Amino acid sequence: MKRVMVLTGGGDCPGLNAVIRAIVKRASQEKDWEVIGCIDSFNGVLKEPNEIVVLDEKRVSGIIVKGGTIIGTTNRGGPFAWPIKNSDGSWSTVDRSDELVRKLQILGIDAVINIGGDGSQRISKILFEKGMNIIGVPKTIDNDLSATDFTFGFQTAVQTVTEAIDKLVTTASSHNRVFIIEVMGRDAGWIALYSSVAGGADVCIIPEVPYDIEKIKDKIESRYKNSKGFCIIVIAEGAISSTQGRIGEIPTEPGNQNFKFGGVGYILMKELQDAGVENDIRVTVLGHVQRGGSPIAYDRVLASEFGVKAFELVLEGKFGEMVAYRHPEIISVPFDKAIGKPHLVSPKSRLVKTAKGLGIEFGD
Ligand code: F6P
Repeated sequence: MKRVMVLTGGGDCPGLNAVIRAIVKRASQEKDWEVIGCIDSFNGVLKEPNEIVVLDEKRVSGIIVKGGTIIGTTNRGGPFAWPIKNSDGSWSTVDRSDELVRKLQILGIDAVINIGGDGSQRISKILFEKGMNIIGVPKTIDNDLSATDFTFGFQTAVQTVTEAIDKLVTTASSHNRVFIIEVMGRDAGWIALYSSVAGGADVCIIPEVPYDIEKIKDKIESRYKNSKGFCIIVIAEGAISSTQGRIGEIPTEPGNQNFKFGGVGYILMKELQDAGVENDIRVTVLGHVQRGGSPIAYDRVLASEFGVKAFELVLEGKFGEMVAYRHPEIISVPFDKAIGKPHLVSPKSRLVKTAKGLGIEFGD
């Protein structure tokens, strides 16, 4: 029996279970393959005793509708930067990758499918260079991986934000308030952009377009000019002010694969008040609500396509590649290309033009 190990790494995302299910269903069509799930990314193998589970068709039955991941995930404790607490309370990290490779050999693992974002695929690349038979599947609600047109989970997050805007519009208009809605997107403003267009926002602030507070203030004033009015502002957590740079960076936990942002909604509210905006302002931080819940149909389909393709790459022995969607095909690209540059919103793109055509202010 051959064994493929599946793991999910980094932040969770609607559609992870649909990928796991697709891998298991496709593998079950081959007589000689068994799928093993590694709990909490590579931690499941590195822990003593290890935490691994056999994934068969019964185990994945019904999970296509479920958010999260049945095998757990973490964005701390990768094999190259395993966090260790020192006696003085400080943290350092150690490289446990050789131990990981040894343990996988002992467990009889023939191939690994690593479902994860940029940080996880960087780990995949180095493990491949160490000789591991590894395939990547891209995952992030931020949609910021350049090798693929879309990542699953993104459209679900956009749907969640749009529904939140719809609800906030009714309360904003009743109270004639300014609402600031803080959404995810560290480097890329895709969630903010799509949901601003879909939800009919007045202002969209994204990391790719530094904002001038006076432009935002002018837009708010224009929304209150002829009537009582209200104003909906969507801001991505990685927002950049034209005068202060990144406004919401916060320290990361030891061993975290990514830098973190948060609180930009409140920072913007203060800036607007300091600039003289007198309207009532409220802030809603959507946070991890955007990562939770059942994937919408589009993401279930994309995740299923990624899962089937990932297992077929294992069968072909095409290791060192990440699955990607390039309309209309599901392809694979070498890790080097997969983790090159982030996929950012171009300020000159069609959708930004459309948004501006709808009167959405970006603050530039
Ligand atoms: O990568 C997706 C993402 O949702 C980012 O937009 C956000 O900054 C991050 O995850 C938060 O992750 P966590 O709180 O799990 O560290």
